[in-house]
Amino acid sequence: MRIAVPKEVASGEGRVAVVPDVVKRYVGLGAEVVVETGAGALSRIPDGEYEAAGAKIAGSAADTYAGADVVLKVRRPEAEELGLIPKGALVIATMDPYGHEDAVKAMAEAGLVAVAMEFMPRITRAQVMDVLSSQANLAGYQAVIDAAEVYDRAFPMMMTAAGTVPAARVFVMGAGVAGLQAIATAKRLGAVVSATDVRPASKEQVESLGGKFIAVEDEEFKQAETAAGYAKPMSAEYQAKQAALVAEHIKKQDVVITTALIPGRQAPRLVTAEMLASMRPGSVLVDLAVERGGNVEGAVAGEIVEIGAVKIVGHRNVAGRIAATASQLYAKNLYAFVETLVDKEAKALKVDYEDELVKATVLTRDGAVVHPAFAPKEAA
Ligand code: NAI
Repeated sequence: MRIAVPKEVASGEGRVAVVPDVVKRYVGLGAEVVVETGAGALSRIPDGEYEAAGAKIAGSAADTYAGADVVLKVRRPEAEELGLIPKGALVIATMDPYGHEDAVKAMAEAGLVAVAMEFMPRITRAQVMDVLSSQANLAGYQAVIDAAEVYDRAFPMMMTAAGTVPAARVFVMGAGVAGLQAIATAKRLGAVVSATDVRPASKEQVESLGGKFIAVEDEEFKQAETAAGYAKPMSAEYQAKQAALVAEHIKKQDVVITTALIPGRQAPRLVTAEMLASMRPGSVLVDLAVERGGNVEGAVAGEIVEIGAVKIVGHRNVAGRIAATASQLYAKNLYAFVETLVDKEAKALKVDYEDELVKATVLTRDGAVVHPAFAPKEAA
């Protein structure tokens, strides 16, 4: 069983799909691990640390992929990589398939078994494999750090001989995994924190972190969670009521961090230009949903824009901004899954395509798109 770990080709992607500790564990499963030279550089892992853990270093992408049974990546392979990966190889990554149906089809045509880690079911057995959670948690932390960097005032209240500095007021919109970590981080920095979400379960979580919960808590709100624990799209009527409440609240906020997402859809628009205009000069918004359409009007992916007197931070790939830590967690998520695909006696790959984790995550197989969300209707 040969496991290939290439250097990510996407610009600005500093994460890597394996770390030295995890290499040892793959070797323990009987695998041969090949890491492309420099793959860990942006996560502060030199080639030598991989070698010391038992990996082989390959000098090029082609040499890395040669003979691979399993490819571990952070991002979906790009066109130039597809030709290098052996047919039939299992390619495990965050595939970002919505809106990229052509890329999914290209992986099928290349004969790959493409596995989308973000489709891992949120069940107890798979918690350790949940890349959305491990990366969103870090993005939530980093969003607060990014906000603090461009906010020209202090976060904590300070009582000094020269006067009192008031605490920053931070409002977190979307209190899922990223939002909860943003709340915790802003609290640690001394801010006064409030948060909103459309899922009723989030209220208690926000309050347990010391945040104030702000939301229209009507009948619709009480039903607004899917069995999988995700948000449902809300009615226009609810959105209008919620927007009015938020509009009043946001005027008094210094920092707004938005994290609201609905799987497979455009991110909901939560902050309008009018709300931005009502904020104090120097206020900062960080839009973690910017790559999915954005929660904040005027946010631009990859940029910090100034609209009037406020700044909107729209960094892409925020988990990748804390790459060394993100790689540690991501690599462990992947290992936990790969371990279930290996016959430990035979020390060989043995994928059970009937297993619920495999069924939920496999996008392509035997030359076809097989995932129910993407397969041509007749095949699904
Ligand atoms: P996500 O990344 O899809 O969305 C982020 C947040 O935005 C969610 O809390 C969502 O409710 C919220 N949101 C959506 N539309 C909104 C709107 N119009 N206004 C305000 N907020 C809005 O969700 P994430 O963070 O991946 O997870 C959501 C929940 O799933 C978690 O909080 C948790 O309860 C559950 N979960 C369960 C796990 C498990 O059982 N293993 C693991 C991770 C999460």
